[in-house]
Amino acid sequence: MADSYVDSNGDGLELTDGTLSLRVDFMEMLPRLRQDRLSRELLVRAAKIKNLDRRPIAIDATAGLGEDSLLLAAAGFRVHMYEKDARVYALLEDAMSRALDNPELAVYVERMVLEKADSRNVLETLAFTPDIIYLDPMFPARKKSAAVKKKFQLLHELALKNEDTIDLLSTAIDVRPRKIIIKRPLKGPYLGDIKPSFSIAGKAIRYDCLVFA
Ligand SMILES: C[S@@+](CC[C@H](N)C(=O)[O-])C[C@H]1O[C@@H](n2cnc3c(N)ncnc32)[C@H](O)[C@@H]1O
Repeated sequence: MADSYVDSNGDGLELTDGTLSLRVDFMEMLPRLRQDRLSRELLVRAAKIKNLDRRPIAIDATAGLGEDSLLLAAAGFRVHMYEKDARVYALLEDAMSRALDNPELAVYVERMVLEKADSRNVLETLAFTPDIIYLDPMFPARKKSAAVKKKFQLLHELALKNEDTIDLLSTAIDVRPRKIIIKRPLKGPYLGDIKPSFSIAGKAIRYDCLVFA
């Protein structure tokens, strides 16, 4: 990953190592944001909060390419996003600013706030209590799996070098949100060996939910 860099191709920023390239385009997410599909998204189901008479607040502590944050924003959350890698942050910031030009996306992106920061530091000094903290640490791909789509290979290599996840989870627990949601491989162990209150499983992934209130 040392050789990867952010480049401008005239149509937004991309991360490249000279061979693979990665660009974030929220337009590709539009079909998943339609209400019928959105309500079936596992993350949206995991994030559901009942009996709240205000807009719920989520922290996406591992913002990455912002897709999960966008799902949460479309589901009604205000989303505070933190990304510690400067290159991924630049890609995401660029994608969000392009999305603001599209009225269908802008309504959701306006609820998303991105900061370049290590979430562990942010969570330690947080001035508010979010309803949800979401963690999507990158997990190693199984050897024979096609789980890591080609377009995510660069991000995957990068994130695996940044393993601080257990630390991040214990900092998130100290914040005491209503719920912590952790994305895991379907058959992967519980993060930090902590048994969740419940899990929602799909074909390849699982959302472990720790409920505090
Ligand atoms: C698997 S990706 C997240 C993908 C994201 N859920 C999406 O929908 O695109 C993990 C990201 O979390 C970032 N990350 C890992 N630890 C972090 C931390 N402590 N603070 C902020 N970002 C972190 C990595 O740099 C990487 O970009």
